[in-house]
Amino acid sequence: MRAYDIIEKKRNNDELTSEEIKFFINGYIDNEIADYQMSAFLMAVYFNGMTDEECKTLTECMLHSGEVMDLSPIKGIKVDKHSTGGVGDKTTLIVTPIVAACGTKVAKMSGRGLGHTGGTVDKLCSIPGMNVEISRNRFFDIVNTVGCCLMSQSGNLVPADKKIYALRDVTATVESMPLIASSIMSKKIASGADCIVLDVKVGSGAFMKTKEDAISLSKIMISIGKKFNKKVIALITDMDIPLGNAIGNSLEVWESCEVLRGRGPKDLRDVSISLAANMLYLSGKGTIDECEHFARSAIDSGKAFEKFKEMVSAQGGNLSLIEKSDYLDCLEEHKFEIYSDDDGYIFKMDTEKIGKAAMILGAGREKKDDIIDYNAGIILNKKTGDKVTKDEVLAVFYSSSKEKFVEAEKIFKEAIKFDKNKPEYVSLIQAKITLDDVQIF
Ligand code: URA
Repeated sequence: MRAYDIIEKKRNNDELTSEEIKFFINGYIDNEIADYQMSAFLMAVYFNGMTDEECKTLTECMLHSGEVMDLSPIKGIKVDKHSTGGVGDKTTLIVTPIVAACGTKVAKMSGRGLGHTGGTVDKLCSIPGMNVEISRNRFFDIVNTVGCCLMSQSGNLVPADKKIYALRDVTATVESMPLIASSIMSKKIASGADCIVLDVKVGSGAFMKTKEDAISLSKIMISIGKKFNKKVIALITDMDIPLGNAIGNSLEVWESCEVLRGRGPKDLRDVSISLAANMLYLSGKGTIDECEHFARSAIDSGKAFEKFKEMVSAQGGNLSLIEKSDYLDCLEEHKFEIYSDDDGYIFKMDTEKIGKAAMILGAGREKKDDIIDYNAGIILNKKTGDKVTKDEVLAVFYSSSKEKFVEAEKIFKEAIKFDKNKPEYVSLIQAKITLDDVQIF
């Protein structure tokens, strides 16, 4: 077999055999196939796509490139969730303790953020003392005793994805459905949970810009899950507006705690309850309506917040930040208010640009080794659909470097479009995809 022939076959839009895909992916991992050949292959996939069978074989090759977690030391059914990435998306911090408080185990590995979207691990690291690099045995122990644990993704989990993703990033081949599906699902399957709820984001801040594309991506991922005996449900959720009002690590931890305290923004609470309900449903806790009721009650009774604090304590985190409902007041000296130049309704927000403004403030990394300013970020006072008068405060910026405020303000203001008319309401949860059903909301 020759790499050249496989690239040519994919370029000509012919279906590859399992042997050909295995030869190519394994050859690349073993450094027998060069970056330039993999780049050509990725571009051929970008333009011609892959059949379901090809995509499943690709996922399988990636999955077996490293360690596959065996979660059997944890008793009972384990559920996981994954978001395809968004701005202000802190739902993992909220749904994990809700689900655990309802009696289903969550053993979750999360990643760091890069670019305009934040990573759960970075948010957790903004809690002083919080340890996300824990041993396997400690991880199993915490999940068995507390019910949930969030740890950093092991370096040996799907190394093929790391190598291929780095190449996709510099060859303009990230936005390919089979490549995204195999990248996400290989990591989820390797993480070992029995059931997975996918939060597939759609909109200006997401990889998928249309609902149709988000549905197609979900269907591919669900069918990959079935091949590996995983129960998978996907919710398509809106990313044309940042989720919640806080963007930036410690700000998002604070806002998540607010939701767990029964406060916080309604959009964030609603998406979190839906995700948690679907996780509980997949683990067999009841009908979807019953599970939604369990999730709400876990917040209202304070049990979910207690569970979150239990998990943070078990991972060495200091609870003082978490217990401060008035946490934002402690950041007063680094604050910068952004005033509106216009009157009218906010008609549109470019979520990606807002994420970039937060990144400039220090909340995210542009390059892999950049250091994060955990207290940097944005609190949005106004969002799409809100009426604003000139000189009203649109948002509050936080950063330890005051010189970053001007550049971030410029990008932030470019991201917001005003109109005299109120925009049409877009439903937050746009669709739910299961193995045999597509529900559009
Ligand atoms: N998230 C991933 O893990 N992989 C992709 O390819 C895109 C989003």
